[in-house]
Amino acid sequence: MKFLAVVCLVALGFLISDVGAGRHGRGRRNGKGERPLGTAGDDCLSFYYYQKSCPQAEDLIAKLMADIVSKDPRVPARIIRMHFHDCFVRGCDGSILLNSTSTNKAEKDAPPNNPSLQGFNVIDQIKQVLESQCPNVVSCADILTYAARESVALVSTTYSSSRNSTNNFSKSEALQNLPPPSSNVSSLIQKFASKGLSLEEMVTLSGGHSIGVSHCSSISGRQVNFKNSGKPDPTLNSNLAASLRQQCGSVSTVDKIVVMDTFTPTVLDNKYYTGLLQNKGLFTSDQSLLTDIRTLREVRGNSAIPSTWETKFVNGMTKMGEIQVLTGKQGEVRRKCSLVN
Ligand code: HEM
Ligand SMILES: *[C@@H]1O[C@H](CO)[C@@H](O)[C@H](O)[C@H]1NC(C)=O
Ligand SMILES: *[C@@H]1O[C@H](CO)[C@@H](O)[C@H](O)[C@H]1NC(C)=O
Ligand SMILES: *[C@@H]1O[C@H](CO)[C@@H](O)[C@H](O)[C@H]1NC(C)=O
Ligand SMILES: *[C@@H]1O[C@H](CO)[C@@H](O)[C@H](O)[C@H]1NC(C)=O
Repeated sequence: MKFLAVVCLVALGFLISDVGAGRHGRGRRNGKGERPLGTAGDDCLSFYYYQKSCPQAEDLIAKLMADIVSKDPRVPARIIRMHFHDCFVRGCDGSILLNSTSTNKAEKDAPPNNPSLQGFNVIDQIKQVLESQCPNVVSCADILTYAARESVALVSTTYSSSRNSTNNFSKSEALQNLPPPSSNVSSLIQKFASKGLSLEEMVTLSGGHSIGVSHCSSISGRQVNFKNSGKPDPTLNSNLAASLRQQCGSVSTVDKIVVMDTFTPTVLDNKYYTGLLQNKGLFTSDQSLLTDIRTLREVRGNSAIPSTWETKFVNGMTKMGEIQVLTGKQGEVRRKCSLVN
């Protein structure tokens, strides 16, 4: 099982680094953990939830994602982050996708998301296609989860589907629930614990920063004027600081971006931890994982053995994807992801 999970994640790394490559070895499993005939030896993927109501949903999302990613390789990182931000604010309920209304500011307009979180159009686009094929069936919360899974080719059998979307959302809760990049280790541990995720899972999931980019504004001046000291953050690797100064210039630029993992910026792998151990974590929150003996031990472990981290990451994403899922009469299947019905 674990081994197969790793195989699938590797296939995913492939998907990200070699965009346009086909999907590999997608097996299917239903909610009861039974494996249909003909897919023996292939444990990867599939929620089965829409098998009756919209049998083409999963394949369609996979196909659309492959297509979209082949045209824009920045998409997987955006969708993985979007899934994290959705799940941490009232659970994985698609609330991140909603637009503000005249009376209620949406999560997507809260500072942790606006302007840095992008990719909403990807989910809206997939939803539109699904609505044309299976009107009113596939929830936006599920589309985001499927799209995140496709983004990482996440593979655990327990990776839960069948969640409905919310019509209840709040900008201020996004601010409260999402950890800022200035977080120290104790507040990271606490924020993840409040979502049912352990210290180990927190460090594992931080490995999401092995892919994608950050706006210079999120680095909080670590490269030049840390906490108004007039100096770079002494805990930041000085070569990286110099490179960031060159790329970002002044502190608060929002229009420039830098990669988060300088070793392998487009591959989801454990090089993030290798970088951390060289003080190359981009944010204070990354760096802070070295400041607690327990999290440091996890960082070292994840840096040492790629396959161990990969397996743990799959499991961590799976667990994160199960936070406060709406089922039954809770929530609704939205017609447009950015609007409540
Ligand atoms: C541990 C607490 C975390 C903090 C404080 C944090 C903070 C941030 C910040 C500030 C950015 C850059 C935003 C920008 O300026 O563009 C970012 C990007 C990103 N984060 Fe996190 N994050 C955390 C955990 C996670 C987790 C758990 C995941 C997923 C498993 C994740 C996935 C990503 C990805 C993929 C990006 C790149 C997005 C892109 O390329 O557009 N982060 N994060
Ligand atoms: C939600 O907002 C986006 C960006 O402002 C816009 O493009 C989209 O059309 C909006 N959705 C709806 C249903 O109005
Ligand atoms: C909206 O969510 C909040 C926080 O979870 C809850 O207290 C409130 O009852 C919900 N409102 C509705 C109408 O479901
Ligand atoms: C960590 O950050 C939290 C929230 O900002 C703060 O209340 C706490 O005092 C900080 N802890 C340490 C050890 O600095
Ligand atoms: C989602 O809501 C619909 C009614 O809007 C309901 O029929 C369906 O069972 C719900 N789905 C889940 C997974 O709970």
